[in-house]
Amino acid sequence: MWGGRFAEGPSAIMREINASIPFDKALWRQDIAGSRAHVAMLAQQEIVSTEDAEAIDGGLQTIAAEYERDGVPEDWDLEDIHMTVEARLTELVGPVAGRLHTARSRNDQVATDFKLWTRDAMDRALDGIAALQRALVDRAGEHAASVMPGFTHLQTAQPVTLGHHLLAYYEMLRRDSARFSAAQERLNECPLGAAALAGTGFDLDRDMTATALGFDRPTANSLDTVSDRDFALDYLNAASQCALHLSRLAEELILWASQPFGFVRLPDSLSTGSSIMPQKKNPDAAELVRGHAGRIIGCTTALMVTMKGLPLAYSKDMQDDKPPVFEAAGLLDLCLAAMQGMIAGADFNTDRMRNAAGLGHATATDLADWLVRAADIPFREAHHITGAAVKLADSKGCTLEDLSLEDLQGIDSRLDDRVRAVLTLDASVAARRSYGGTAPDQVQARAREARQALGMED
Ligand code: ARG
Repeated sequence: MWGGRFAEGPSAIMREINASIPFDKALWRQDIAGSRAHVAMLAQQEIVSTEDAEAIDGGLQTIAAEYERDGVPEDWDLEDIHMTVEARLTELVGPVAGRLHTARSRNDQVATDFKLWTRDAMDRALDGIAALQRALVDRAGEHAASVMPGFTHLQTAQPVTLGHHLLAYYEMLRRDSARFSAAQERLNECPLGAAALAGTGFDLDRDMTATALGFDRPTANSLDTVSDRDFALDYLNAASQCALHLSRLAEELILWASQPFGFVRLPDSLSTGSSIMPQKKNPDAAELVRGHAGRIIGCTTALMVTMKGLPLAYSKDMQDDKPPVFEAAGLLDLCLAAMQGMIAGADFNTDRMRNAAGLGHATATDLADWLVRAADIPFREAHHITGAAVKLADSKGCTLEDLSLEDLQGIDSRLDDRVRAVLTLDASVAARRSYGGTAPDQVQARAREARQALGMED
Protein backbone atom coordinates (compact mmCIF):
# COMPACT_ATOMS: atom_id res chain seq x y z
CA MET A 1 0.00 0.00 0.00
CA TRP A 2 3.00 2.31 0.39
CA GLY A 3 5.55 0.41 -1.76
CA GLY A 4 6.34 3.58 -3.71
CA ARG A 5 8.59 4.97 -0.99
CA PHE A 6 10.31 1.81 0.26
CA ALA A 7 13.38 -0.02 -1.09
CA GLU A 8 12.70 -3.25 0.77
CA GLY A 9 9.72 -4.94 2.34
CA PRO A 10 9.10 -5.38 6.09
CA SER A 11 11.01 -8.04 8.02
CA ALA A 12 9.16 -10.99 9.46
CA ILE A 13 9.28 -9.36 12.87
CA MET A 14 7.91 -6.10 11.52
CA ARG A 15 5.06 -7.97 9.87
CA GLU A 16 4.25 -9.77 13.08
CA ILE A 17 4.45 -6.81 15.43
CA ASN A 18 2.48 -4.67 13.01
CA ALA A 19 -0.37 -7.05 12.25
CA SER A 20 -3.65 -6.28 13.94
CA ILE A 21 -5.73 -8.51 11.67
CA PRO A 22 -5.72 -11.37 14.23
CA PHE A 23 -7.97 -9.26 16.44
CA ASP A 24 -9.32 -6.35 14.39
CA LYS A 25 -11.00 -8.74 11.97
CA ALA A 26 -13.82 -8.54 14.53
CA LEU A 27 -14.50 -5.10 13.03
CA TRP A 28 -15.32 -6.38 9.54
CA ARG A 29 -19.01 -5.52 9.63
CA GLN A 30 -18.31 -1.99 10.82
CA ASP A 31 -15.50 -1.56 8.29
CA ILE A 32 -17.73 -2.50 5.39
CA ALA A 33 -20.62 -0.35 6.64
CA GLY A 34 -18.25 2.61 6.99
CA SER A 35 -16.85 2.11 3.50
CA ARG A 36 -20.30 1.84 1.96
CA ALA A 37 -21.38 5.09 3.63
CA HIS A 38 -18.15 6.77 2.51
CA VAL A 39 -18.39 5.72 -1.13
CA ALA A 40 -22.06 6.72 -1.36
CA MET A 41 -21.06 10.17 -0.10
CA LEU A 42 -18.15 10.37 -2.56
CA ALA A 43 -20.61 9.65 -5.38
CA GLN A 44 -23.13 12.22 -4.17
CA GLN A 45 -20.35 14.81 -4.02
CA GLU A 46 -19.22 13.78 -7.52
CA ILE A 47 -15.78 12.87 -6.19
CA VAL A 48 -16.16 9.41 -7.73
CA SER A 49 -18.54 8.54 -10.55
CA THR A 50 -21.83 6.83 -9.79
CA GLU A 51 -20.66 3.92 -11.89
CA ASP A 52 -17.46 3.43 -9.90
CA ALA A 53 -19.30 3.87 -6.62
CA GLU A 54 -21.77 1.17 -7.63
CA ALA A 55 -18.97 -1.21 -8.57
CA ILE A 56 -17.27 -0.56 -5.23
CA ASP A 57 -20.48 -0.94 -3.26
CA GLY A 58 -21.32 -4.20 -5.06
CA GLY A 59 -17.83 -5.50 -4.25
CA LEU A 60 -18.20 -4.55 -0.61
CA GLN A 61 -21.48 -6.43 -0.40
CA THR A 62 -19.87 -9.50 -1.95
CA ILE A 63 -17.08 -9.32 0.61
CA ALA A 64 -19.61 -9.08 3.43
CA ALA A 65 -21.33 -12.22 2.14
CA GLU A 66 -17.96 -14.00 1.90
CA TYR A 67 -16.91 -13.07 5.43
CA GLU A 68 -20.31 -14.03 6.77
CA ARG A 69 -19.95 -17.44 5.18
CA ASP A 70 -16.24 -18.20 5.51
CA GLY A 71 -14.89 -15.81 8.11
CA VAL A 72 -12.18 -13.20 7.53
CA PRO A 73 -8.87 -14.45 6.09
CA GLU A 74 -5.88 -13.63 8.25
CA ASP A 75 -2.91 -12.48 6.18
CA TRP A 76 -0.30 -10.61 8.20
CA ASP A 77 1.02 -8.93 5.07
CA LEU A 78 -2.28 -7.12 4.82
CA GLU A 79 -1.80 -5.83 8.37
CA ASP A 80 -5.34 -5.00 9.39
CA ILE A 81 -9.02 -5.33 8.54
CA HIS A 82 -9.02 -2.15 6.48
CA MET A 83 -6.30 -3.36 4.08
CA THR A 84 -7.73 -6.88 4.05
CA VAL A 85 -11.07 -5.58 2.80
CA GLU A 86 -9.45 -3.24 0.30
CA ALA A 87 -7.18 -5.96 -1.08
CA ARG A 88 -10.15 -8.26 -1.61
CA LEU A 89 -12.10 -5.40 -3.18
CA THR A 90 -9.27 -4.89 -5.65
CA GLU A 91 -9.39 -8.59 -6.56
CA LEU A 92 -13.13 -8.34 -7.09
CA VAL A 93 -13.58 -5.04 -8.93
CA GLY A 94 -10.08 -4.14 -10.17
CA PRO A 95 -8.23 -0.83 -9.95
CA VAL A 96 -11.44 1.13 -9.39
CA ALA A 97 -11.24 -0.18 -5.81
CA GLY A 98 -8.42 2.34 -5.32
CA ARG A 99 -10.95 5.17 -5.47
CA LEU A 100 -12.60 4.12 -2.20
CA HIS A 101 -9.79 5.51 -0.08
CA THR A 102 -10.17 9.02 -1.56
CA ALA A 103 -10.48 11.64 1.22
CA ARG A 104 -10.04 8.99 3.87
CA SER A 105 -7.28 7.57 6.02
CA ARG A 106 -7.12 4.45 8.10
CA ASN A 107 -6.95 6.83 11.01
CA ASP A 108 -10.49 8.15 10.64
CA GLN A 109 -11.57 4.76 9.32
CA VAL A 110 -10.43 2.81 12.37
CA ALA A 111 -11.89 5.40 14.73
CA THR A 112 -15.23 5.03 12.93
CA ASP A 113 -15.16 1.23 12.92
CA PHE A 114 -14.21 1.04 16.55
CA LYS A 115 -16.85 3.53 17.60
CA LEU A 116 -19.52 1.56 15.75
CA TRP A 117 -18.35 -1.64 17.44
CA THR A 118 -18.22 -0.05 20.87
CA ARG A 119 -21.66 1.49 20.39
CA ASP A 120 -23.05 -2.02 19.80
CA ALA A 121 -21.17 -3.33 22.83
CA MET A 122 -22.84 -0.61 24.89
CA ASP A 123 -26.22 -1.74 23.55
CA ARG A 124 -25.43 -5.29 24.59
CA ALA A 125 -24.38 -4.13 28.05
CA LEU A 126 -27.59 -2.14 28.40
CA ASP A 127 -29.66 -5.16 27.36
CA GLY A 128 -27.77 -7.47 29.70
CA ILE A 129 -28.16 -5.07 32.59
CA ALA A 130 -31.89 -4.69 31.95
CA ALA A 131 -32.36 -8.47 31.85
CA LEU A 132 -30.56 -8.87 35.18
CA GLN A 133 -32.55 -6.00 36.66
CA ARG A 134 -35.79 -7.70 35.62
CA ALA A 135 -34.72 -10.89 37.36
CA LEU A 136 -33.79 -8.96 40.50
CA VAL A 137 -37.06 -7.07 40.54
CA ASP A 138 -39.09 -10.24 40.02
CA ARG A 139 -37.36 -11.99 42.89
CA ALA A 140 -37.57 -8.87 45.07
CA GLY A 141 -41.35 -8.71 44.60
CA GLU A 142 -41.58 -12.37 45.56
CA HIS A 143 -39.50 -11.77 48.70
CA ALA A 144 -40.63 -8.30 49.77
CA ALA A 145 -41.47 -9.69 53.22
CA SER A 146 -38.88 -12.48 53.53
CA VAL A 147 -36.75 -11.60 56.53
CA MET A 148 -33.00 -12.07 56.51
CA PRO A 149 -30.15 -10.68 58.57
CA GLY A 150 -28.81 -7.37 57.34
CA PHE A 151 -25.08 -7.03 57.88
CA THR A 152 -22.53 -4.35 58.51
CA HIS A 153 -18.93 -5.52 58.87
CA LEU A 154 -20.49 -8.90 57.96
CA GLN A 155 -21.87 -8.94 61.49
CA THR A 156 -25.61 -9.24 62.01
CA ALA A 157 -26.85 -5.66 62.26
CA GLN A 158 -30.61 -5.36 61.75
CA PRO A 159 -33.17 -7.55 60.04
CA VAL A 160 -33.90 -6.60 56.44
CA THR A 161 -35.95 -8.24 53.76
CA LEU A 162 -34.45 -10.27 50.94
CA GLY A 163 -36.43 -8.13 48.51
CA HIS A 164 -34.74 -5.04 49.89
CA HIS A 165 -31.34 -6.65 49.55
CA LEU A 166 -31.96 -7.63 45.92
CA LEU A 167 -33.24 -4.16 45.04
CA ALA A 168 -29.97 -2.70 46.30
CA TYR A 169 -28.38 -4.36 43.26
CA TYR A 170 -31.15 -3.06 41.03
CA GLU A 171 -30.06 0.45 42.07
CA MET A 172 -26.38 -0.22 41.35
CA LEU A 173 -27.30 -1.51 37.92
CA ARG A 174 -29.51 1.51 37.29
CA ARG A 175 -26.45 3.70 37.72
CA ASP A 176 -24.39 1.37 35.50
CA SER A 177 -27.04 1.63 32.86
CA ALA A 178 -26.98 5.43 33.07
CA ARG A 179 -23.19 5.36 32.67
CA PHE A 180 -23.41 3.28 29.49
CA SER A 181 -26.18 5.50 28.10
CA ALA A 182 -24.23 8.68 28.79
CA ALA A 183 -21.12 7.15 27.23
CA GLN A 184 -23.12 6.19 24.16
CA GLU A 185 -24.39 9.72 23.77
CA ARG A 186 -20.87 11.15 24.02
CA LEU A 187 -19.53 8.58 21.58
CA ASN A 188 -22.02 9.36 18.88
CA GLU A 189 -20.06 11.75 16.63
CA CYS A 190 -18.75 10.47 13.33
CA PRO A 191 -14.97 10.48 12.70
CA LEU A 192 -15.20 9.98 8.92
CA GLY A 193 -13.77 12.97 7.10
CA ALA A 194 -11.09 13.79 9.64
CA ALA A 195 -8.85 11.82 7.27
CA ALA A 196 -5.26 11.30 8.51
CA LEU A 197 -5.31 14.13 11.04
CA ALA A 198 -5.95 17.45 9.34
CA GLY A 199 -9.18 16.98 7.42
CA THR A 200 -9.18 16.90 3.64
CA GLY A 201 -9.22 19.20 0.63
CA PHE A 202 -12.06 17.22 -0.96
CA ASP A 203 -15.53 18.67 -0.72
CA LEU A 204 -17.05 16.07 1.62
CA ASP A 205 -20.53 15.94 3.07
CA ARG A 206 -19.68 14.80 6.59
CA ASP A 207 -23.28 15.09 7.72
CA MET A 208 -24.26 12.53 5.13
CA THR A 209 -21.85 9.85 6.35
CA ALA A 210 -22.64 10.68 9.96
CA THR A 211 -26.38 10.18 9.35
CA ALA A 212 -25.89 7.05 7.27
CA LEU A 213 -23.99 5.41 10.14
CA GLY A 214 -26.43 6.50 12.84
CA PHE A 215 -24.23 9.19 14.38
CA ASP A 216 -25.76 12.41 15.69
CA ARG A 217 -23.23 14.67 13.93
CA PRO A 218 -19.66 14.69 12.61
CA THR A 219 -16.79 15.30 15.03
CA ALA A 220 -15.64 18.93 15.25
CA ASN A 221 -11.84 18.65 15.37
CA SER A 222 -9.90 16.37 13.06
CA LEU A 223 -6.86 16.06 15.35
CA ASP A 224 -9.00 15.08 18.31
CA THR A 225 -10.99 12.73 16.11
CA VAL A 226 -8.11 10.47 15.13
CA SER A 227 -6.45 10.52 18.54
CA ASP A 228 -9.53 10.13 20.71
CA ARG A 229 -10.24 6.83 22.42
CA ASP A 230 -12.39 8.28 25.19
CA PHE A 231 -15.33 6.25 23.93
CA ALA A 232 -13.38 3.03 24.48
CA LEU A 233 -12.30 4.17 27.93
CA ASP A 234 -15.86 5.23 28.71
CA TYR A 235 -16.98 1.74 27.81
CA LEU A 236 -14.25 0.16 29.92
CA ASN A 237 -14.87 2.41 32.90
CA ALA A 238 -18.59 1.72 32.83
CA ALA A 239 -17.86 -1.98 32.35
CA SER A 240 -15.44 -1.96 35.28
CA GLN A 241 -17.92 -0.38 37.61
CA CYS A 242 -20.65 -2.74 36.47
CA ALA A 243 -18.33 -5.74 36.85
CA LEU A 244 -17.42 -4.52 40.30
CA HIS A 245 -21.11 -4.53 41.24
CA LEU A 246 -21.56 -7.98 39.76
CA SER A 247 -18.56 -9.22 41.73
CA ARG A 248 -20.17 -8.07 44.97
CA LEU A 249 -23.41 -9.85 44.15
CA ALA A 250 -21.37 -12.90 43.12
CA GLU A 251 -19.51 -12.84 46.42
CA GLU A 252 -22.78 -12.74 48.35
CA LEU A 253 -24.19 -15.66 46.38
CA ILE A 254 -20.99 -17.60 47.07
CA LEU A 255 -21.28 -16.89 50.79
CA TRP A 256 -24.99 -17.58 50.86
CA ALA A 257 -24.55 -20.86 49.01
CA SER A 258 -21.98 -22.10 51.56
CA GLN A 259 -23.15 -24.64 54.13
CA PRO A 260 -22.76 -22.41 57.22
CA PHE A 261 -25.05 -19.82 55.59
CA GLY A 262 -27.31 -22.08 53.56
CA PHE A 263 -29.35 -19.12 52.34
CA VAL A 264 -29.52 -20.17 48.72
CA ARG A 265 -29.20 -23.08 46.33
CA LEU A 266 -27.89 -21.97 42.98
CA PRO A 267 -29.26 -23.59 39.83
CA ASP A 268 -27.48 -26.82 38.86
CA SER A 269 -27.12 -25.45 35.35
CA LEU A 270 -24.78 -22.74 36.66
CA SER A 271 -22.85 -24.87 39.16
CA THR A 272 -20.27 -27.62 38.89
CA GLY A 273 -19.37 -30.71 40.87
CA SER A 274 -16.06 -31.91 42.23
CA SER A 275 -14.08 -34.74 40.60
CA ILE A 276 -13.12 -36.10 44.03
CA MET A 277 -15.79 -35.03 46.55
CA PRO A 278 -19.13 -36.44 45.44
CA GLN A 279 -21.19 -34.23 47.74
CA LYS A 280 -19.85 -30.96 46.35
CA LYS A 281 -21.77 -28.43 44.35
CA ASN A 282 -19.59 -25.44 43.60
CA PRO A 283 -20.74 -21.94 42.66
CA ASP A 284 -18.20 -21.70 39.84
CA ALA A 285 -20.21 -19.29 37.71
CA ALA A 286 -20.44 -16.86 40.61
CA GLU A 287 -16.75 -17.29 41.38
CA LEU A 288 -15.87 -16.56 37.76
CA VAL A 289 -18.06 -13.46 37.75
CA ARG A 290 -16.16 -12.36 40.84
CA GLY A 291 -12.87 -13.18 39.13
CA HIS A 292 -13.70 -11.68 35.75
CA ALA A 293 -14.23 -8.31 37.38
CA GLY A 294 -10.48 -8.31 37.98
CA ARG A 295 -9.76 -8.96 34.32
CA ILE A 296 -12.18 -6.26 33.18
CA ILE A 297 -10.58 -3.73 35.51
CA GLY A 298 -7.20 -4.89 34.14
CA CYS A 299 -8.37 -4.17 30.58
CA THR A 300 -9.35 -0.67 31.65
CA THR A 301 -5.98 -0.07 33.22
CA ALA A 302 -4.26 -1.40 30.10
CA LEU A 303 -5.92 1.10 27.78
CA MET A 304 -5.54 3.98 30.22
CA VAL A 305 -1.81 3.36 30.36
CA THR A 306 -1.58 2.95 26.59
CA MET A 307 -3.22 6.33 26.02
CA LYS A 308 -1.39 8.18 28.75
CA GLY A 309 1.08 10.75 27.43
CA LEU A 310 0.47 10.09 23.71
CA PRO A 311 1.02 13.21 21.64
CA LEU A 312 -1.53 14.23 19.02
CA ALA A 313 -2.60 12.80 16.76
CA TYR A 314 -2.67 9.10 15.84
CA SER A 315 0.16 6.89 17.12
CA LYS A 316 0.49 3.20 16.42
CA ASP A 317 0.30 2.48 20.15
CA MET A 318 -3.39 3.08 19.65
CA GLN A 319 -3.70 -0.12 17.65
CA ASP A 320 -3.50 -1.79 21.07
CA ASP A 321 -6.84 -0.22 21.97
CA LYS A 322 -8.92 -3.08 20.65
CA PRO A 323 -7.86 -6.24 22.52
CA PRO A 324 -8.72 -4.89 25.97
CA VAL A 325 -12.11 -3.62 24.82
CA PHE A 326 -12.93 -6.86 23.01
CA GLU A 327 -11.83 -8.91 26.01
CA ALA A 328 -13.72 -6.81 28.54
CA ALA A 329 -16.88 -6.80 26.42
CA GLY A 330 -16.84 -10.57 25.99
CA LEU A 331 -16.40 -11.01 29.72
CA LEU A 332 -19.03 -8.48 30.71
CA ASP A 333 -21.64 -9.96 28.37
CA LEU A 334 -21.00 -13.38 29.89
CA CYS A 335 -21.03 -12.12 33.48
CA LEU A 336 -24.35 -10.35 33.01
CA ALA A 337 -25.92 -13.42 31.43
CA ALA A 338 -24.57 -15.75 34.13
CA MET A 339 -25.76 -13.46 36.89
CA GLN A 340 -29.21 -13.19 35.33
CA GLY A 341 -29.44 -16.98 35.27
CA MET A 342 -28.29 -17.31 38.87
CA ILE A 343 -30.74 -14.73 40.21
CA ALA A 344 -33.67 -16.02 38.16
CA GLY A 345 -32.93 -19.62 39.19
CA ALA A 346 -31.84 -19.08 42.81
CA ASP A 347 -33.69 -21.21 45.33
CA PHE A 348 -33.70 -19.01 48.44
CA ASN A 349 -34.00 -20.77 51.78
CA THR A 350 -36.12 -18.21 53.59
CA ASP A 351 -36.39 -20.36 56.74
CA ARG A 352 -32.62 -20.37 57.15
CA MET A 353 -32.53 -16.65 56.51
CA ARG A 354 -35.20 -15.98 59.11
CA ASN A 355 -33.45 -18.18 61.67
CA ALA A 356 -30.17 -16.42 61.06
CA ALA A 357 -31.87 -13.05 61.43
CA GLY A 358 -33.05 -14.13 64.89
CA LEU A 359 -29.46 -14.59 66.05
CA GLY A 360 -27.15 -11.81 67.18
CA HIS A 361 -29.81 -9.60 68.79
CA ALA A 362 -30.67 -8.05 65.44
CA THR A 363 -33.62 -6.16 66.92
CA ALA A 364 -31.64 -4.37 69.64
CA THR A 365 -32.01 -1.06 67.82
CA ASP A 366 -35.78 -1.53 67.96
CA LEU A 367 -35.57 -1.81 71.72
CA ALA A 368 -33.59 1.43 71.91
CA ASP A 369 -36.01 3.15 69.51
CA TRP A 370 -38.92 2.00 71.70
CA LEU A 371 -37.34 3.58 74.79
CA VAL A 372 -37.02 6.85 72.87
CA ARG A 373 -40.64 6.76 71.80
CA ALA A 374 -42.38 5.23 74.85
CA ALA A 375 -40.29 6.81 77.62
CA ASP A 376 -38.89 9.88 75.88
CA ILE A 377 -35.32 8.84 76.71
CA PRO A 378 -32.52 10.43 74.64
CA PHE A 379 -31.27 7.92 72.06
CA ARG A 380 -27.74 7.78 73.48
CA GLU A 381 -29.09 6.76 76.88
CA ALA A 382 -31.53 4.31 75.30
CA HIS A 383 -28.57 2.80 73.43
CA HIS A 384 -26.79 2.30 76.75
CA ILE A 385 -29.78 0.64 78.43
CA THR A 386 -30.22 -1.65 75.43
CA GLY A 387 -26.57 -2.61 75.64
CA ALA A 388 -27.18 -3.80 79.18
CA ALA A 389 -30.16 -5.85 77.98
CA VAL A 390 -28.02 -7.45 75.25
CA LYS A 391 -25.35 -8.27 77.81
CA LEU A 392 -27.87 -9.89 80.11
CA ALA A 393 -29.49 -11.87 77.31
CA ASP A 394 -26.04 -13.06 76.21
CA SER A 395 -25.15 -14.17 79.74
CA LYS A 396 -28.44 -16.07 79.96
CA GLY A 397 -28.01 -17.50 76.47
CA CYS A 398 -31.41 -16.19 75.38
CA THR A 399 -32.81 -13.59 72.99
CA LEU A 400 -33.95 -10.09 73.95
CA GLU A 401 -37.54 -11.23 73.48
CA ASP A 402 -37.03 -14.01 76.03
CA LEU A 403 -35.98 -11.68 78.86
CA SER A 404 -38.53 -11.74 81.65
CA LEU A 405 -40.30 -8.67 82.99
CA GLU A 406 -38.10 -8.82 86.10
CA ASP A 407 -35.00 -8.97 83.92
CA LEU A 408 -36.15 -5.92 81.98
CA GLN A 409 -37.09 -3.90 85.01
CA GLY A 410 -33.83 -4.84 86.68
CA ILE A 411 -32.05 -3.13 83.81
CA ASP A 412 -34.27 -0.05 83.74
CA SER A 413 -37.61 0.55 85.40
CA ARG A 414 -38.94 2.22 82.27
CA LEU A 415 -38.75 -1.08 80.36
CA ASP A 416 -41.92 -3.18 80.43
CA ASP A 417 -43.73 -5.96 78.58
CA ARG A 418 -44.96 -3.69 75.81
CA VAL A 419 -41.47 -3.64 74.36
CA ARG A 420 -41.75 -7.27 73.29
CA ALA A 421 -44.05 -6.33 70.42
CA VAL A 422 -41.28 -4.37 68.72
CA LEU A 423 -38.65 -7.03 69.21
CA THR A 424 -39.97 -9.53 66.67
CA LEU A 425 -38.29 -9.71 63.28
CA ASP A 426 -41.47 -8.87 61.40
CA ALA A 427 -42.22 -5.88 63.61
CA SER A 428 -38.66 -4.70 63.18
CA VAL A 429 -38.71 -4.71 59.37
CA ALA A 430 -42.30 -3.42 59.21
CA ALA A 431 -41.27 -0.44 61.33
CA ARG A 432 -38.60 0.71 58.86
CA ARG A 433 -41.01 2.54 56.62
CA SER A 434 -38.85 5.56 55.88
CA TYR A 435 -38.56 6.19 52.14
CA GLY A 436 -36.12 3.61 50.81
CA GLY A 437 -36.32 1.56 54.01
CA THR A 438 -36.68 -2.19 54.30
CA ALA A 439 -40.37 -2.38 55.32
CA PRO A 440 -42.23 -4.81 53.03
CA ASP A 441 -44.64 -2.13 51.81
CA GLN A 442 -41.69 0.12 50.94
CA VAL A 443 -39.98 -2.73 49.11
CA GLN A 444 -43.18 -3.48 47.18
CA ALA A 445 -43.52 0.18 46.23
CA ARG A 446 -39.91 0.38 45.01
CA ALA A 447 -40.30 -2.90 43.13
CA ARG A 448 -43.41 -1.52 41.43
CA GLU A 449 -41.55 1.63 40.38
CA ALA A 450 -38.68 -0.50 39.10
CA ARG A 451 -41.05 -2.66 37.06
CA GLN A 452 -42.49 0.46 35.52
CA ALA A 453 -39.04 1.86 34.72
CA LEU A 454 -38.11 -1.44 33.07
CA GLY A 455 -41.36 -1.63 31.11
CA MET A 456 -42.41 -4.85 32.87
CA GLU A 457 -45.99 -5.97 33.38
CA ASP A 458 -47.49 -5.42 36.82
N1 ARG B 1 -4.58 -1.02 12.27
C1 ARG B 1 -4.51 0.37 12.65
C2 ARG B 1 -5.11 0.55 14.05
O1 ARG B 1 -5.79 -0.33 14.50
C3 ARG B 1 -5.24 1.21 11.68
C4 ARG B 1 -4.74 2.61 11.59
C5 ARG B 1 -3.41 2.64 11.02
N2 ARG B 1 -3.01 3.95 10.65
C6 ARG B 1 -1.74 4.21 10.39
N3 ARG B 1 -1.44 5.41 10.07
N4 ARG B 1 -0.83 3.29 10.38
O2 ARG B 1 -4.91 1.54 14.73
